[in-house]
Amino acid sequence: MTDLLQSAAIEILKINDRGSYTVPTKGLYPFQWNWDSCLTALGQRHFDSARALTEIETLFAHQWPCGMVPHIIFHAQDDGYFPGPDVWGCKRPVPTSGITQPPVAGFALRRLLDKAPELRDRAQPLLGKVTTWHRWFHATRDPQGSGLAAIIHPWESGRDNSVDWDIPFERVPTTGIAPYTRRDTQHADPAHRPTKEQYDRYIWLVECFRGLEWQTDKLHDASPFQVVDPGFNAILIRSCLDLADLADEMGETALAQENRALAHKGLAALSALWSERHGQYLCLDRITGQLIDSPSSGGLLTVFAPIPPDRAARVAATIDGHGTRFHVASHAPGTKGFDAKRYWRGPVWLVVNYMIADGLRNAGQTDAAARITGSSLDLIRGSGFAEYYDPLTGEALGGGQFTWTAAMVLEFLSA
Ligand code: GLC
Repeated sequence: MTDLLQSAAIEILKINDRGSYTVPTKGLYPFQWNWDSCLTALGQRHFDSARALTEIETLFAHQWPCGMVPHIIFHAQDDGYFPGPDVWGCKRPVPTSGITQPPVAGFALRRLLDKAPELRDRAQPLLGKVTTWHRWFHATRDPQGSGLAAIIHPWESGRDNSVDWDIPFERVPTTGIAPYTRRDTQHADPAHRPTKEQYDRYIWLVECFRGLEWQTDKLHDASPFQVVDPGFNAILIRSCLDLADLADEMGETALAQENRALAHKGLAALSALWSERHGQYLCLDRITGQLIDSPSSGGLLTVFAPIPPDRAARVAATIDGHGTRFHVASHAPGTKGFDAKRYWRGPVWLVVNYMIADGLRNAGQTDAAARITGSSLDLIRGSGFAEYYDPLTGEALGGGQFTWTAAMVLEFLSA
């Protein structure tokens, strides 16, 4: 069975391989996505480490001069996706979007190079590029120097329509945007996707930033949506720490020190997002200064960073307390907004499971980590390599033959 799963996963990574980058799945997502690629490299390393490094190199070849790494690279023309390059209007040599995604590259790079030291020389230039991206977060997304970076569009979190964004999203208008036709609902069941009202707001933000000509140092203050997502920041902190270790080993002491300093500042600030009542971290609405009362997987993903062990233990207990047949629901079942089938408002995503399990294991919560890994593999065995899954029934949802799901399976099988 293990061998069969392994070969099925490798097959999916190969089907979706476009040479120097991998699409998340054909049809629904026909380009390169930022955090998908970094996590995909972790799957590819099990059968071709050099190809895995190419995945990350290709992503960073499209880094903006300011340091931002875009969330989508539109390598090829494809009308099956909205919003395409014309809507973004970023004027890059190869078109890209103008927002970013969770910075998991530093973590992925270290994990890849730990097992493939022969690639270190080739990977050397990436140390500086990833650091520039980390520096960019602190400079442009934390103008007051709080230690934590804000996202300015829900898509930056990677958890597109999470309940977390409902309240801050009310400040984003739905009027005055150009007429558009969605494409995602032609590939997947509309009942499992974001609503039209949410889409209008997504597009309003894109048009607002385009109006500012994507000057990334101006967008944070101009955005009516500024949210500090604990999961996103945990990924940034973990990537800074992992990149720092790698940089030390590769003789880049200054880069190591810089990344470590950013991580420590972030870790100290993260503590303020803890909710004793929910037994997890919460998002902060930077515009109102209030924590957002929404217990999502973003606040559980925080264990990916080295948070205090007692808090990691509470996060493990909170996940158990979900009481779902499959872990980890992207929103706490039984709380406001939970929807077992709608994208990031309830369904299980294997990439999030992977990072939570990794963090719990590092914090000594090995049983809890093993339960999440086991649950993830049960989903695959029962429902195949889907984009996301119903946490109550295990039903496969969204796109099929999904790249990062397959990549995570290769990681889980080798853990
Ligand atoms: C969706 C997900 C996002 C992912 C993208 C490609 O937009 O919400 O996290 O990167 O699809 O798989």
